[in-house]
Amino acid sequence: MSQRVKVRQILLDENTNYDVVVKGWIRSFRNNQFIALNDGSTNNNLQIVLEPGSVTPEVLKRLTTGAAISVRGTVIPSLGKGQRVEVKAVELEILGDCDPEKYPLQLKNRPSLEYLREIAHLRFRTNTFGAIFRIRHTLAFAVHKFFNERGFVYLHTPIITASDAEGAGEMFRVSTLDPKNPPLTENGEIDYKEDFFGKATNLTVSGQLEGELGAMAFGDVYTFGPTFRAENSNTARHLAEFWMIEPEMAFYDLEDNMNLAEAFIKSVIGYALENNREDLEFLAQRLEEEDKQKPQQERSELGLIQKLEFVLNNEFMRLTYTEAIDILKNSKPNKSKKFDYIIEEWGADLQSEHERYLVEKHFKKPVILTDYPKAIKAFYMKQNDDGKTVRAMDILFPGIGEIVGGSQREENYDKLVTRMEEMHLPVNEMSWYLDTRRYGACPHAGFGLGFERLVLFVTGMGNIRDVIPFPRTPKSAEF
Ligand code: 4AD
Ligand code: MG
Repeated sequence: MSQRVKVRQILLDENTNYDVVVKGWIRSFRNNQFIALNDGSTNNNLQIVLEPGSVTPEVLKRLTTGAAISVRGTVIPSLGKGQRVEVKAVELEILGDCDPEKYPLQLKNRPSLEYLREIAHLRFRTNTFGAIFRIRHTLAFAVHKFFNERGFVYLHTPIITASDAEGAGEMFRVSTLDPKNPPLTENGEIDYKEDFFGKATNLTVSGQLEGELGAMAFGDVYTFGPTFRAENSNTARHLAEFWMIEPEMAFYDLEDNMNLAEAFIKSVIGYALENNREDLEFLAQRLEEEDKQKPQQERSELGLIQKLEFVLNNEFMRLTYTEAIDILKNSKPNKSKKFDYIIEEWGADLQSEHERYLVEKHFKKPVILTDYPKAIKAFYMKQNDDGKTVRAMDILFPGIGEIVGGSQREENYDKLVTRMEEMHLPVNEMSWYLDTRRYGACPHAGFGLGFERLVLFVTGMGNIRDVIPFPRTPKSAEF
């Protein structure tokens, strides 16, 4: 028998006394006899037991942390503590050596998250990052499962586009022109007519506009892909490259949109709780230990698993921006000027300190804010009759702030064009988008969920750089 069996399967299997081949990386080797083998299928290691004298001293020396090995042996009940079964080795082969003098991941000293970020190409091999990225995988799978079960069409929207879906100008230029000697127009500006696509193009900030085109044919669509923002935000919640899930639904109003978003978030979190229990428990334990180092008032009230269960079992609080502003104006940190940005009047954009106050201190649960001032929201949002607000909704989460941004869309052609003109958007170049309002326009809505912010919440990690394999942030694009 030469087919490799994964460690997870062996540890789950009730049977013993059968032969297997296992392959993986050595996490530790002690007493010249016990190998802790990890193959990435679970954080739990498989204990391999070597018969004394069964391998040569030369091979023994090469059994170091990080080395890749293949073992043929028998699964037997374990007499030692900490594992139900172990593998008695019959044959061992070293597939790849790992120099213990140079290998950066020795078990002795637990490396810091900051250090592991510098060696992100190796950090998957730690328990923490093993757990995080298995959970990330499960969440991605759960996203597709949720929408598939509801008959949504997964629409692949373009990565390279000529439009700025959010109208915020935070785009990365895509160009093949020679930066040292670009062709110029008569006015001395770069002539993008000469560029690869014959016009100025950029990496997409959102797939929404194309999603809307799909929704006008399929009814319900979603995109799930990378999006790019050249915003210079060096925070623990911003990436320059992040993955976004954007459903877009014909015939939905704002309330339908909120209901879907809430059901969606609960569904994927529930799926992770069911399918990543071990990894979540590992991260919960890790957080608990971290918490013990903090002063009492900074410790979290709930453990990670309880926190996730709390979100599943409670309705999100829904209120308008206007109601939230009143709460914030009268809040302690606002009156005592503890906020960095004091809320003085209606119309102020909410900073993450305000969002977190509402969620963590005031309501103590996820919050959906609706009907924001139109001046601080994107052009495509449906205008309310008051002339001041739009049918926007943001979902705010504890420890995260904004996790979802969405809205009902303005389906009225004239209102939409007027708003685009007010905001100096290139109406002529977006004729294709306006066709959705020319031909069979209907009420519709959608939202965007930042996938990394979701993973951040579910794993309980504190920095978004630790929940995407290779983070891209200002001044950093390693690996
Ligand atoms: O609120 P945003 O900008 O909304 C949109 O892009 C809409 N087109 C969505 C839609 O209605 N289809 O972004 C949506 C979400 C945010 O709530 C946040 O979770 C995440 O995307 N996000 C970021 N995540 C990480 N790094 C960044 N720089 C992010 N910017 C937004
Ligand atoms: Mg937003």
